[in-house]
Amino acid sequence: MKIFLDTAIYEEIQQGVEWGVVDGVTTNPTLIAKAGQDHEEQVKRICQIIGNVSAEVVSERKDDMLVEGRRIAAWHKNVIVKVPMTPDGMAAGKALARDGIRVNVTLCFSVNQALLAAAIGAYIVSPFAGRLDDINEDGMKLVADIVAAYRQQEIKTKVLAASIRSPVHVTQAALAGADIATMPFAVLKQMFNHPLTEAGQKRFLEDYERARAERGGARAGADGRASAGERSEPQKTQEAKPAGGRAVEPAAKR
Ligand code: E4P
Repeated sequence: MKIFLDTAIYEEIQQGVEWGVVDGVTTNPTLIAKAGQDHEEQVKRICQIIGNVSAEVVSERKDDMLVEGRRIAAWHKNVIVKVPMTPDGMAAGKALARDGIRVNVTLCFSVNQALLAAAIGAYIVSPFAGRLDDINEDGMKLVADIVAAYRQQEIKTKVLAASIRSPVHVTQAALAGADIATMPFAVLKQMFNHPLTEAGQKRFLEDYERARAERGGARAGADGRASAGERSEPQKTQEAKPAGGRAVEPAAKR
């Protein structure tokens, strides 16, 4: 399962890319508004550092969506055009897909809607798990059901688990067979966490440092003894030699 970031904030995407774990980005009008940047400029900027960047149309009628979708697709080759799961969205999406543009059908809340997305040749369908959980339905069950239906029907459209709210959602999406999970940056960061990893790493470093310090101490002791020995020889020699340098025999031998 590929990991996408569900954000339009450049710095978050840049960090995810640096970590080497992120394969794409999903944006929507809300996320673009949150980023506080011009839509086109921000999407183009994101496309400079990562592929698979979903950018959503904001028109509502088929013809307007088609014009807008073509314009968005021309921004960059990494763009995937997002259209809503509405009759106009499907009609526009079909025309875009026919043009060879990758289409992501968003706001999917049922298996039947996912079948419609597949019917227009969508590249991605985005079931919104979290928003179903919010109304006391099982969002991840929908993801699993869409995956099962697509497998049964040999449908190639990718299932992208969206509206993810927690690291548990990510695990569930993977177990459900989703091709992609898109998540907020906070959830991505949480995925790294495990108390045993943190404790284990702390202990490894402490053990290593302790051993290094002990070896250093032992070496310093050995060096200390060695240098003390080196110092004592000239002293002894100096004491044993009278001025002029002649060796003095021990008293017993005299
Ligand atoms: C991504 O494509 C969706 O737009 C996003 O995951 C929606 O998330 P939300 O339900 O938390 O707004």
